[in-house]
Amino acid sequence: MKAFINFRRSVVVLLLIFSCFVLLIQCINNGKKNNDIAKKNAATSYQRKVNFKQFAGEATCIKCHKNIYESFIHTSHFLTSQPALEKYIKGSFEKGRNIFPFNDHLYVSMEKRDSGLFQVAWQRGVEKIAKRFDIVTGSGAKGQTYLSWYKNELFQLPISFLTAANEWANSPGYDPGKVVYNRPVTSRCLECHSTYFNVTSPPGKEPEEYDHNEILYGVQCEKCHGPSAKHVEYQTQNPKDQVGRYIINPSKFSRQQSLDLCGLCHGGRLQKTTPSFEFIAGDTLSKYFVPSTAGPTTKEIDVHGNQLGLMKESKCFRLSTTMTCITCHNTHENERVQTELFSQRCMTCHNKEHGTFCKIDPATVSSIKSNCIDCHMPKQPSMSVALLLPGHIEPTAALIHTHLIKVYPEETKRFMQKHK
Ligand code: HEC
Ligand code: HEC
Ligand code: HEC
Ligand code: HEC
Ligand code: HEC
Ligand code: HEC
Ligand code: HEC
Repeated sequence: MKAFINFRRSVVVLLLIFSCFVLLIQCINNGKKNNDIAKKNAATSYQRKVNFKQFAGEATCIKCHKNIYESFIHTSHFLTSQPALEKYIKGSFEKGRNIFPFNDHLYVSMEKRDSGLFQVAWQRGVEKIAKRFDIVTGSGAKGQTYLSWYKNELFQLPISFLTAANEWANSPGYDPGKVVYNRPVTSRCLECHSTYFNVTSPPGKEPEEYDHNEILYGVQCEKCHGPSAKHVEYQTQNPKDQVGRYIINPSKFSRQQSLDLCGLCHGGRLQKTTPSFEFIAGDTLSKYFVPSTAGPTTKEIDVHGNQLGLMKESKCFRLSTTMTCITCHNTHENERVQTELFSQRCMTCHNKEHGTFCKIDPATVSSIKSNCIDCHMPKQPSMSVALLLPGHIEPTAALIHTHLIKVYPEETKRFMQKHK
């Protein structure tokens, strides 16, 4: 705690020094042309381009885009962050199923109390600490992690949920021996799992601070179509205009713009060079992040969130001029495990007429046309979505389809055995 206070104090001192420095520079430059540049620099570090008022909120879109809206709410994007209501939490609060044991004397129980849902650490029968579930991250397709407010800061709770095992599990990177409540949640984490959080702390302050009232949960319409308050206002006032105005349509993007939009969150661990939540659909990603150089053989390129890096290494991408993520994905629909549908999309490029079909002997695989995926994009263990189950020594990883599309001889063998 003391270290924490000292840290706070040094941040304040640093900020004071910094403001004096800015004032000093401004005095020196007063009346000169340079003043504008100094002002602009100060402004870019504190004044954000994107703010809460520019958003309409996805609920407003239903009025005029009913079909898209109604299918979209079943996608993982929509569900990837939520306020922590019981119905959104996949794990059980029932007695007997609500415990994660650390050792003989220490466990965490998930409890419903009058003031909400809590993770409570118990040591030798004594309650040590209770923290509330405030925000759910993860649709639960693979797993969920929970966040808790401390004033205006957010911390990741120690117990997560692993869907494949249908069990509570220790959060990734947490010490299996003790209960820890002090891992701050970064704005970058929220940038990939939500549409907007208002980051109120100055750049560089850690843990970062957020405004409780200016949050847009889920990866929503406006993440891919830009903040849309103006669009909604205009179309509402001009119902006869059948042209969409003040709105971004990714179908008009260049290949690079399209890749950059998905790459914001599916491009792996990128080093940011501007504050989070500044990137708007259509922007150039490299203006906001140091471009990724990780190759598919390095450990850096995990399947958690790096479909772009993997796809870019595939021959399909390198030797075609059109492939983007939306060649195969319709982001308005939940198309999970519709293997046949995805296989049809492969066959838009790989078909018998063009002589580009699979080289495997069709006589050996009867169901070939309905499943290109298991042989060419097999599931692999994620390095970061890996959670420790009770009583295990090694974390259990969620399985994620690789986007390095190629021939996998071992998977072919396995497939043939299964479909004999
Ligand atoms: C009052 C009606 C109305 C509301 C509310 C509305 N839109 Fe639209 N929108 C339209 C009309 C009309 C068009 C043009 C016809 C079309 O493409 O459907 C349009 C077109 C679009 C387009 C395609 C633009 C193009 O260039 O073709 C997108 C994307 C879009 N809207 C997104 C949204 C989003 C996101 C929301 C909610 C934040 C929203 N709209 C709310 C009426 C509305
Ligand atoms: C703001 C960040 C963000 C952007 C931008 C984004 N995604 Fe995602 N996407 C996510 C997250 C986070 C998940 C995981 C959701 C979950 O299960 O909790 C995800 C999941 C997915 C899934 C898996 C769906 C499922 O149900 O298994 C697909 C496919 C996908 N995204 C495609 C895309 C495509 C294509 C684009 C670009 C048009 C895109 N995403 C843009 C963050 C983003
Ligand atoms: C993950 C990104 C993403 C999200 C979230 C998203 N869209 Fe889209 N949207 C796209 C892309 C990409 C296209 C272009 C599709 C194409 O070219 O095939 C598109 C196209 C559209 C269009 C143009 C008409 C059409 O179907 O081509 C409308 C309207 C639209 N979206 C509305 C919405 C609404 C409303 C929501 C929320 C309920 C939403 N979108 C959520 C990515 C997204
Ligand atoms: C670079 C963007 C990015 C960052 C940063 C990121 N994630 Fe993710 N996360 C994703 C994507 C994309 C997925 C979908 C699965 C995949 O591609 O591995 C995902 C999947 C997940 C899932 C599993 C969801 C499901 O059920 O499918 C959880 C839980 C999760 N992330 C939590 C977090 C938390 C907590 C943080 C911050 C501490 C974080 N992620 C940081 C992009 C990101
Ligand atoms: C936009 C067109 C396009 C789509 C869609 C597409 N591919 Fe490809 N793919 C290509 C091209 C081009 C090549 C390179 C062909 C060559 O070697 O001449 C290729 C190569 C391949 C190869 C050989 C890779 C290697 O390393 O030798 C496999 C396997 C493959 N694709 C499978 C798939 C599967 C499975 C899908 C669907 C999940 C798919 N492709 C979707 C264009 C595409
Ligand atoms: C050649 C077709 C193809 C392209 C291109 C493609 N994907 Fe996929 N993607 C798939 C298939 C097939 C799956 C497995 C779907 C399933 O079975 O649920 C998948 C699954 C995913 C998932 C969920 C991971 C999992 O296993 O649960 C995410 C996230 C995703 N894709 C994002 C992207 C992004 C981002 C891009 C662009 C960088 C992209 N995809 C490009 C075919 C493609
Ligand atoms: C049982 C596993 C399996 C399935 C299912 C399968 N493939 Fe293949 N595919 C392979 C193997 C193995 C090779 C390499 C064959 C060789 O080189 O002798 C291959 C080769 C390819 C190639 C490269 C051809 C070349 O020119 O070298 C493409 C493209 C391809 N497959 C596409 C597909 C598509 C599209 C589908 C679905 C319609 C599909 N595959 C289904 C196992 C499979």
